[in-house]
Amino acid sequence: MTTQCDIAIIGMAVMGQNLALNIARKGFAVAVFNRTGEKTQQFITERVADEPIVPTYTLAELAGVLRKPRRIMLMVKAGQAVDEFITAILPHLEPGDLLIDGGNSFFRDTERRIALAENHQLLFLGTGVSGGEYGALHGPSIMPGGHREGYLLVQEILEKAAAQVEDGPCCAYLGPGGSGHFVKMVHNGIEYAIMQAIAEVYDLMRRLYALPTDMIQRFFEEWKESEIASYLVEITARILAVKDPHTQKPLVEVILDAAEQKGTGKWTSQVAFDLGVPTPIINQAVIARSFSFFKEIRTQLAPHHSEISPLPFTSHEAQCLKNSLLFAMVMAFSEGFALLKAASQESGYTLHLPEIARIWKGGCILRTALLSRLQRALTENAPLLFASAEFLSEVKTILPQVRETVHKAANWGIPLPVLGSALTSFDSWTSAVLPANLLQAQRDFFGAHTYRRIDQEGVFHTNWEECS
Ligand SMILES: NC(=O)c1ccc[n+]([C@@H]2O[C@H](COP(=O)([O-])OP(=O)(O)OC[C@H]3O[C@@H](n4cnc5c(N)ncnc54)[C@H](OP(=O)(O)O)[C@@H]3O)[C@@H](O)[C@H]2O)c1
Repeated sequence: MTTQCDIAIIGMAVMGQNLALNIARKGFAVAVFNRTGEKTQQFITERVADEPIVPTYTLAELAGVLRKPRRIMLMVKAGQAVDEFITAILPHLEPGDLLIDGGNSFFRDTERRIALAENHQLLFLGTGVSGGEYGALHGPSIMPGGHREGYLLVQEILEKAAAQVEDGPCCAYLGPGGSGHFVKMVHNGIEYAIMQAIAEVYDLMRRLYALPTDMIQRFFEEWKESEIASYLVEITARILAVKDPHTQKPLVEVILDAAEQKGTGKWTSQVAFDLGVPTPIINQAVIARSFSFFKEIRTQLAPHHSEISPLPFTSHEAQCLKNSLLFAMVMAFSEGFALLKAASQESGYTLHLPEIARIWKGGCILRTALLSRLQRALTENAPLLFASAEFLSEVKTILPQVRETVHKAANWGIPLPVLGSALTSFDSWTSAVLPANLLQAQRDFFGAHTYRRIDQEGVFHTNWEECS
């Protein structure tokens, strides 16, 4: 058994176990630790064969088996657990050691922890990891931010553990401060939006066109080889094929329509509001989950006599739905990258946007055939991604089909929070005229907030009570 481990992983839940195995299989010796020691023992007994993985049961023991400078990665529940571990491990560390938080921490918490690390002359990386359990084991997308010197200490390990694509490992140093966790947060916001867009297309297929699940499944199966090929479309095709052993129905049909959320989508919206960046698509994806949760009220308020008579479904409707999904995906990425750009300017993250698209191409929950095109589009420096030469003419071509889809859904009372807001977002960005002139007049009426004119410089106020 080695006593000079290259890296430690704290947190032996799904992500930590799989990442430890992945790193060990790349030839690095990994020390592992978990708050509840039995889980470490169980991991060693059940999953470790001849990988160089060293179990430890106290933080002193963990610090003792590591090569210096020590490299310690936390894969624990975001929030208090991270702070508790940092506090507990500090006495065992020396200046120059590196802490990596690989969980879904809020980027502002990461910034606070970086300051704490600096007070102790430690290095700190806040690192997003995407790919779930499978990605952690076989190669995730890794998004590190924080101290660049810290990245250099783990570059080889992280880049070998990451998924590999034609243009390199899906891991790159992203920038200082909480940039890694910021990027992961926005990644999760986009993920919410694309998942919801897929769910809306499924909903239209089953409710507006009354397609049986096996037929819906065949469309997703076909689309997984198309221009919208993506991990999320692929898992949807797989999910729709699974039968419930109790009822023999498709399993998806017996799953309650009330979605959970851990909060990363909500953070994205909150931060976007703070930065003044419109993210209606992500916002609506978060809200859609909130609506889903009110199952009882929805059931109570659902009209009893509103059975939809199924509409005809031909290759035209199939094309409309696929293109609506493509449109929503492009608009969701466009929104996410606009937020990344704004945050990079505001916080000095120096994010290289095409590089972010590149490291999402493999291992990542967001991986899609579109990402190579997004990479190219992001080098164009268009005001928004959807308005790049790479996408704009295609977006304009499919737009009538998106309008048709949203229109039909509205006619029949089927909510399309994401597809609908993707369209509204496009229409807002491409409207030279918006009715904000009236808003300004209203604000000036009740609050003397003043307004600007289209024909004169300066700020004006009208005594509306007297004039009206
Ligand atoms: N699951 C995914 O697909 C996924 C994907 C990307 C990122 N992430 C992020 O990666 C991190 C790990 O995720 P996970 O799903 O593997 O595990 P998790 O369920 O988020 O967390 C479980 C781990 O955290 C430890 N823990 C919880 N509360 C603690 C506390 N108060 N003090 C000390 N330790 C505590 C647990 O220790 P005990 O065993 O002692 O309870 C266990 O090791 C999270 O931040 C998660 O958001 C998860």
